[in-house]
Amino acid sequence: MVEQRLGEPGTGVVVTGGASGIGRACCLALAAVGRPVAAWDLDADGADATASACADLGVAAIGAGVDVTDASAVSAAVTKVTDALGSIGGLVHAAGTVRAAIDDVVDLDTWDVVLDVNLRAEAVLVSALLPAFRAAGPGSAIVGIASIEGLIGHGFIPSYVASKHGLIGLTRSFAHRLGSEGIRANAVCPGYIDTPMLAPTIATPEARASFERKIPSGRLGEPDDVARVVRFLLSDEAAYMNGAVVVVDGGVTAVGGQDALGAD
Ligand SMILES: NC(=O)c1ccc[n+]([C@@H]2O[C@H](COP(=O)([O-])OP(=O)(O)OC[C@H]3O[C@@H](n4cnc5c(N)ncnc54)[C@H](O)[C@@H]3O)[C@@H](O)[C@H]2O)c1
Repeated sequence: MVEQRLGEPGTGVVVTGGASGIGRACCLALAAVGRPVAAWDLDADGADATASACADLGVAAIGAGVDVTDASAVSAAVTKVTDALGSIGGLVHAAGTVRAAIDDVVDLDTWDVVLDVNLRAEAVLVSALLPAFRAAGPGSAIVGIASIEGLIGHGFIPSYVASKHGLIGLTRSFAHRLGSEGIRANAVCPGYIDTPMLAPTIATPEARASFERKIPSGRLGEPDDVARVVRFLLSDEAAYMNGAVVVVDGGVTAVGGQDALGAD
């Protein structure tokens, strides 16, 4: 077993989207400081692979194929995870999806899918996990992975933008409702992070460079850049952070879309 780090509550954390990208990086970052982890994803094999990598770091870990939009599947998975990991004191909702509205202004055909995964699922998850959080005692924490598109608009992905703005509202509502029980809720807004979700958008060197030009820090984000912030928000080091919206974007939103200084 790895040594638990000062400030880490030691309770288990459920991470959705745990098979890939930011969710997978969160699982590994948490396991590295001794927190038991459950990786949930539509991709059951990928979730198992993440859990196995976490177990190699010396923590209890379990992977599961879970569709986070399915309330009964989530409820069944909560029972299994509590049996496997003992107390559960954290949730990272990193499962997400994006659909573009190219021909029409609004992507009505896929609107519900995007809202269900990105937004409604966090309500489903928190509702199912609350009894476990309460049983774990004060110090549990929820982190929703929103996006800089939870703060600004984007004409080609209206459902995604709406879902991420909504996730910030849901986070603030949980902060208000659960704060007195010692349960915190915060949202993280990543910028452009090099994961399979972003891959089609940066497939050519020119496209990649056009993103990089907008980033004052001069590079795309890595999943681990986000995961370290998520880990902090789940820890007791962040005990007074509740309802916060934490931007992790290398400065993109701070400069309102201007080209970075020194960019070609
Ligand atoms: N990559 C970026 O640039 C970026 C920027 C801002 C926000 N985000 C957000 O970060 C989160 C993680 O995205 P990522 O970039 O790591 O993408 P990713 O595609 O690598 O990972 C997303 C994971 O979510 C899983 N998933 C999708 N629908 C699911 C469902 N119904 N049930 C369970 N799992 C499901 C997928 O199988 C996948 O493994 C998402 O919420 C995304 O919107 C990403």
